[in-house]
Amino acid sequence: MRSLSTLDELRKTRFSLDGTVGLVPTMGFLHDGHLSLIRRARDECDHVIVSIFVNPTQFGPKEDLAKYPRDLERDLRLIEPLTDLVWTPSAEIMYPTGYQTWVEVEAVARPLEGAMRPGHFKGVTTVVAKLFNAVQPHKAYFGQKDAQQVAVIRQMVRDLNFPIEIVVCPTTREPDGLAMSSRNVYLDAEQRQAATVLFRSLSAAKELFEAGERDAEKLRGKMKEVLASEPLTEPQYVSCADYDTLEELTEIKGKALLSMAVFIGKTRLIDNFVLG
Ligand code: PAF
Repeated sequence: MRSLSTLDELRKTRFSLDGTVGLVPTMGFLHDGHLSLIRRARDECDHVIVSIFVNPTQFGPKEDLAKYPRDLERDLRLIEPLTDLVWTPSAEIMYPTGYQTWVEVEAVARPLEGAMRPGHFKGVTTVVAKLFNAVQPHKAYFGQKDAQQVAVIRQMVRDLNFPIEIVVCPTTREPDGLAMSSRNVYLDAEQRQAATVLFRSLSAAKELFEAGERDAEKLRGKMKEVLASEPLTEPQYVSCADYDTLEELTEIKGKALLSMAVFIGKTRLIDNFVLG
């Protein structure tokens, strides 16, 4: 595996590759969810480039950029058997002095995470567009766990005509249902146990849906009820929205997204299920 840091090194290496290239963009501190994206990319492409960059512009002023978990040595050990190339640009490479260009998606980036984390998606779409321009992959791999991120990136790819296929891979879960996330390391033992409530509440709403319930408010009510049974949780939002537009639904007619953001102590967790 070759580990590259400058843009020049990346470009020279990228353009020496024959065949298809898959990009797996990450912020490091890799877990099995990331590894499943890399495996899928390896199955589908001739070469896989993994980027590791903790993108400062997608963190709000009160968010956890400084203490976001990092362990590059461990990350490199984990991906060594799975990939040819890893790109680890510095913040100076991505945002040199005088940087002033941004990519911003509108409506689909506004609700849910967009409403709770102003500026977050502007940072995500800007860095992903820069990664796409630098790597010029044929396919790029993202996890369903960040459902709105996927919707926003798809919109950006359509609107800006990036010739890149966005591949969305299923959420990887712990045996008790907790969605894997780099932020799970912040949870102590009691909070880790409480964190299963996200999966339990999504499962309860899905069960109602599978029993024939199509009233979106009833599904939101069920999720809130299960979350309320766990005293350590503080829900930020609970949503039953249209899968593509992310607008809140009254009645479920097509594909829908159940999603939520919940604080457990100081740790903010998100999760979602797709219905239909
Ligand atoms: O999902 C993430 O880890 C990040 O948002 C991404 C896509 C790597 C952009 O920084």
